[in-house]
Amino acid sequence: QELELNLEQIEKGGYDHFMLKEIHEQTNAIVDTYRGRLLADKDIIKMGSVDNNITKFLNAKRIVVVACGTSWHAGLVGEYLFEDLARIPVEVEYASEFRYRNPVIHKDDIVIAISQSGETADTLAAIKLAKANGAFVFGICNVVGSSIARETDSGAYTHAGPEIGVASTKAFTTQITVLSLIALKLGYLKGELSKSDYHNYIQELSIIPSKVEKLLKFDAEIEKIAAIYKDAPNCLYLGRGYNFPVALEGALKLKEISYIHAEGYPAAEMKHGPIALIDESMPVVVIATRKGHYEKVVSNIQEIKSRKGKIIAIVTKGDTQVRDIADHVIEIPDTLEPFTPLLTTIPLQLLSYYIAVMRDCNVDQPRNLAKSVTVE
Ligand code: G6P
Repeated sequence: QELELNLEQIEKGGYDHFMLKEIHEQTNAIVDTYRGRLLADKDIIKMGSVDNNITKFLNAKRIVVVACGTSWHAGLVGEYLFEDLARIPVEVEYASEFRYRNPVIHKDDIVIAISQSGETADTLAAIKLAKANGAFVFGICNVVGSSIARETDSGAYTHAGPEIGVASTKAFTTQITVLSLIALKLGYLKGELSKSDYHNYIQELSIIPSKVEKLLKFDAEIEKIAAIYKDAPNCLYLGRGYNFPVALEGALKLKEISYIHAEGYPAAEMKHGPIALIDESMPVVVIATRKGHYEKVVSNIQEIKSRKGKIIAIVTKGDTQVRDIADHVIEIPDTLEPFTPLLTTIPLQLLSYYIAVMRDCNVDQPRNLAKSVTVE
């Protein structure tokens, strides 16, 4: 018994929980994901599984992403990446809806299945359906040799290393890293990105891990914010554009491990419902980074303020406008817009983590949840 306990402590590498360890591992995990793929000194993105099927990728009329949970949120970020950088239309589907819906699948569709475990039953079934309809299915998995990795026509591993905490963290950011690599490569080859834009994106992606590392140093600040809101019964997360999926993921993290009811919304949709919930007891986490429709988000923040909601804003370093209105600000280093999700996600993971710890929740194994859902 004692030996087992010690073993677990060793596995946690000095962290109190696997989740915290995995949050901190993201700096290296992103490097491991792009190692050998992102050749920043040569401006080359090399991915065997994409290169070997490049005609299919370049001729694809549409990309359909199928996934569940956090992986579905990564797929939503992928939608912004592929549409923005490579001008390929994308649909992102819950695997469980897709498979039961008699979906329209064309032979020149590319289906991308995203799964950390590679074992999610609904995602696996969606892949089989897509294949039976003649689509080319590409997998983005973390677990090597998993069922989904074997069932797909081709794919790229995230190489994030084992993820033990039920709440997915490093799997999410590394899935986004793989999607970014593919979108950039296709965008350049399709002539949608100029050589200099392509160069700038590659250089920026190569330094994202160092920015993640900087952000992780702010955990004490985030812990203080967590202490203020740990007893909130509800929490709202708002974001726009690339950071709308991050708002969904932030809310999912909070409800999964702290059991606080949380909802993620595209910021502009607030006026169509959630605004009715805002009063002095409602914390609202708003992602308000520069560029991503910044002015619009600022006016959303003002609307929250005038209804006495409590504002926790994720802003770009040096921001002053939001700082004047918000109750708390968490700064992220400046980056190119498509890569903001890789940074804005980090403080939201930490916020949920600290809130769950303060509420004495079982962070690594929340009630009713499983790491790998092999039932339908
Ligand atoms: C479960 C896990 C989530 C995960 C989802 C999809 O619900 O608790 O963390 O995002 O399954 O899993 P997958 O392994 O397919 O990414």
